[in-house]
Amino acid sequence: MKAEELRKKYFEFFKKKNHELIRSASLVPEHDPTVLFTTAGMHPLVPYIMGEPHPSGKRLVDVQKCIRTGDIDEVGDSSHLTFFEMLGNWSLGDYFKEEAIRMSFEFLTKVLGFGISKIHVTCFKGDNDAPKDAESARIWTGLGIPKEHIYFLPKKDNWWGPAGSTGPCGPDTEMFIDTGKEKCGKNCMPGCSCGKYFEVWNDVFIQYSKTKEGKYIPLKQKTVDTGMGVERTAAMLQGKGSVYEIEVFTPIMARIRKEAKNENARSMRIIADHLKASTFILAEKISPSNLDQGYVLRRLIRKSIRHSRLLGIEKENFASEIAEVVIEIYSGQYPELDENRGFILEELKKEEKKFGKTLETGLREFEKIAELADEKGIEVDVKGFDEEFKKHQQLSRKGAERRFRGGLADSSEETKRLHTATHLLNEALRIILKDRGIIQKGSNITPERLRFDFNFERKLTEEEIKKIEDLVNKKIKDALPVIKEEMAVDDARKRKAQGVFGHKYADRVSVYSVGDFSTEICGGPHVKNTGELGHFRITKEESSAAGIRRIKAVLTQKKSS
Ligand code: ALA
Repeated sequence: MKAEELRKKYFEFFKKKNHELIRSASLVPEHDPTVLFTTAGMHPLVPYIMGEPHPSGKRLVDVQKCIRTGDIDEVGDSSHLTFFEMLGNWSLGDYFKEEAIRMSFEFLTKVLGFGISKIHVTCFKGDNDAPKDAESARIWTGLGIPKEHIYFLPKKDNWWGPAGSTGPCGPDTEMFIDTGKEKCGKNCMPGCSCGKYFEVWNDVFIQYSKTKEGKYIPLKQKTVDTGMGVERTAAMLQGKGSVYEIEVFTPIMARIRKEAKNENARSMRIIADHLKASTFILAEKISPSNLDQGYVLRRLIRKSIRHSRLLGIEKENFASEIAEVVIEIYSGQYPELDENRGFILEELKKEEKKFGKTLETGLREFEKIAELADEKGIEVDVKGFDEEFKKHQQLSRKGAERRFRGGLADSSEETKRLHTATHLLNEALRIILKDRGIIQKGSNITPERLRFDFNFERKLTEEEIKKIEDLVNKKIKDALPVIKEEMAVDDARKRKAQGVFGHKYADRVSVYSVGDFSTEICGGPHVKNTGELGHFRITKEESSAAGIRRIKAVLTQKKSS
């Protein structure tokens, strides 16, 4: 079964079970500006997992584009990917363990046709924070999974979330397919990296919220969050030992192989994975840069080019040629690729050229230093340099990972307050700067501060900044109610709700209004009343890119006067 058919079958199955199909959200989280990329299907749904009603109901199904860079060093093995698609079904306060596991079992065995004997599952072992998940194990046994195929593992393996340091989380049960390979050793079991057991699906039972103090508090609304990796499952269905052997990769691999002067499989895989991820990031209209998503994109492109050199590929515009293949494979499911074809190819060509020059100069410089050192009898500490470089890489990776985890489930009160303040700021800018064309160009919120990018040509004056602060603080003092309504996108537009320009919204959206001051399409979460915000202060105003200004602001406890 091909990936395309797998998606279709999944949707059909869950639609029959009364799930509503929703669209994949953007790869750049819109309502959770504290993280760089969407890393799981549940990511765009966090506000609904926390209890906000979803416009499409309590049972949802979708396929979500995801990017994970946490595993980037594993890319090149048979199963880790930077870009992947995640199928998911959700129960937002509707069914729980029994029904979720039954549906997973039915889909795996009846629709996909995996034999029971090949299915192995893991369940949470229990610890001081939460009891052993004997219930899930009992349900699996009831369905016919033999006891020897059920494993109890600790939090490290069988617990999902919180994705940040606080927020929704719970035990999960993971489903693995036995590939039939020999065990690599006595302790080989699901979770082992030897490749005998391939994880295909994860049912997470979100029933706790982790507090700042590290306590696990039961949540009022219990949620089921599931994730099935499209590429991994399709590989298992096709009897392939690696995700690179299925049709969403084979045309890309064939193209790379055609140009390559040697058969370094790992390099080929890295190029295929990284350029696919790059193509999808570019389709979000993000350019390579030294900041945020643009920086990850730049690193992905540059690493693919380095590996193409290792394969002996010197061809100009190689990256954009590969992107064309990616667009061809995925446009049916993700039309944004074809819509942004021109931009994607152009940006890749530019970056390739730029990096090509850097590589050449770098190499020349290095040779020069080596020669010089030789002449002067100095030893060049190549090994030392490599080690330092690795250390630096590790540090930046840790930083990036923290950021990835940082925002996902961060629905803390601080973040909520800053998020609501962002709506006030957004409207205040248009009023004080007398420019109705100002729109949000980016936003990033941590519990400490908000950051807001908008289109404006010049630096703001001190007087303007003061006026903006005053207006926001006035609206805080007015204690305006924050109200959420659900409506069709067209109705939201009619109401002149602010939204992110060019963004594809679902058919029905949530609209937040703050008194009669501001109306925005937004997933929340927000505070209930602006009176809860404290005192608003702009700490910085600067240029962020050509024609884009950036404001940083904080809320302090001081009451606005
Ligand atoms: N959120 C779960 C995962 O990513 C389903 O594995």
